[in-house]
Amino acid sequence: MIIATGLTKLYGEFVAVDHVNFEINEGEIFGILGPNGAGKTTIIRMLAAIFPPTEGTAKVANCDVIEDDMAVRSQVGILSENPSLYERLTARANLKFFARLYDVPADQIDNRIDFLGEIFDLKSRLDDRVGTYSKGMKQKLAIAKALIHDPPVLFLDEPTSALSPEAAKAIRDLLVDLAKDRSRTICICTHNLHDAARLCDRVAVIRHGRILTVGTPGEISRAYSGPPTVRVKLGAIDTALIEALAKVDGVISVDKDSITNNLMIKVDNHDKITPKIVRKIVEKNGEILEIEPIHASLEEAYLKLIEEDTMNGITVEENISLVTERT
Ligand SMILES: Nc1ncnc2c1ncn2[C@@H]1O[C@H](COP(=O)(O)OP(=O)(O)O)[C@@H](O)[C@H]1O
Ligand SMILES: [Mg+2]
Repeated sequence: MIIATGLTKLYGEFVAVDHVNFEINEGEIFGILGPNGAGKTTIIRMLAAIFPPTEGTAKVANCDVIEDDMAVRSQVGILSENPSLYERLTARANLKFFARLYDVPADQIDNRIDFLGEIFDLKSRLDDRVGTYSKGMKQKLAIAKALIHDPPVLFLDEPTSALSPEAAKAIRDLLVDLAKDRSRTICICTHNLHDAARLCDRVAVIRHGRILTVGTPGEISRAYSGPPTVRVKLGAIDTALIEALAKVDGVISVDKDSITNNLMIKVDNHDKITPKIVRKIVEKNGEILEIEPIHASLEEAYLKLIEEDTMNGITVEENISLVTERT
């Protein structure tokens, strides 16, 4: 549904997006993750044909963002970082206004607004002024606005930032429904890694306008967040037991968390090594209060990726300065 090839954006001499390639399938929820200034908003704006790339291009719903920008705009909805709604107008008046702006046929506008009111659970409040809405309701209305012309592709820039956990969950459920039940293709920029892990089929991690990795949250977590860990809470901990556990075949390391007193045991395989750990503790007369496999998290992987990229960046710059010093 979306194909970016060599997508690049320069602001003056500054390279904000640097030859980015990726594909997003129909009905997929794709996340673009990265720190502030990574180029997320710039990528989304190029894909939504708000401004053209400096180099490279992208196809969205089979339309080229440079040659067919008008067609792209009719195929996409976009929720920007600071969506504009008219607070003094009712929600219905807001949606009507944007429906006309997006050339929704006049005889379909009311149906469309009622339908969106229904799926966004705003029906009973459509005739209230937006100024009286909560943050979560405003965000839902802003997404409804982006969907007013029933586009197959939806871009969302930080859709759950600044929302309460309940409102964020309502938005996540809604997006899953749009993608899975209504086959919409959704591309989300976020630095909320928990949301991304729960919501996205695949994510791209970007930094300095370049893609560091693309994959499912599970793939990325496993690839970058180090060995699996088993957490064990014991009645009492003694050094002899820790040493014995460290010698169990398949155990990589044993650390005691200084705050919780839990043992964090890194292993090469949860399923195979956990029973051996249990056996060893029982053999040493230890008392197991809790035991739990800790699965690799997207957050841990993300932080590691960004850290590695920072180190690489330093090496490159140091190399450059070494070369300059020599010449
Ligand atoms: N209009 C602009 N003019 C100059 N620089 C810009 C402009 N918009 C964004 N940038 C710069 O481009 C980089 C990427 O910005 P942006 O795409 O907004 O990143 P993100 O959304 O990941 O935080 C940042 O360093 C930002 O300062
Ligand atoms: Mg941004």
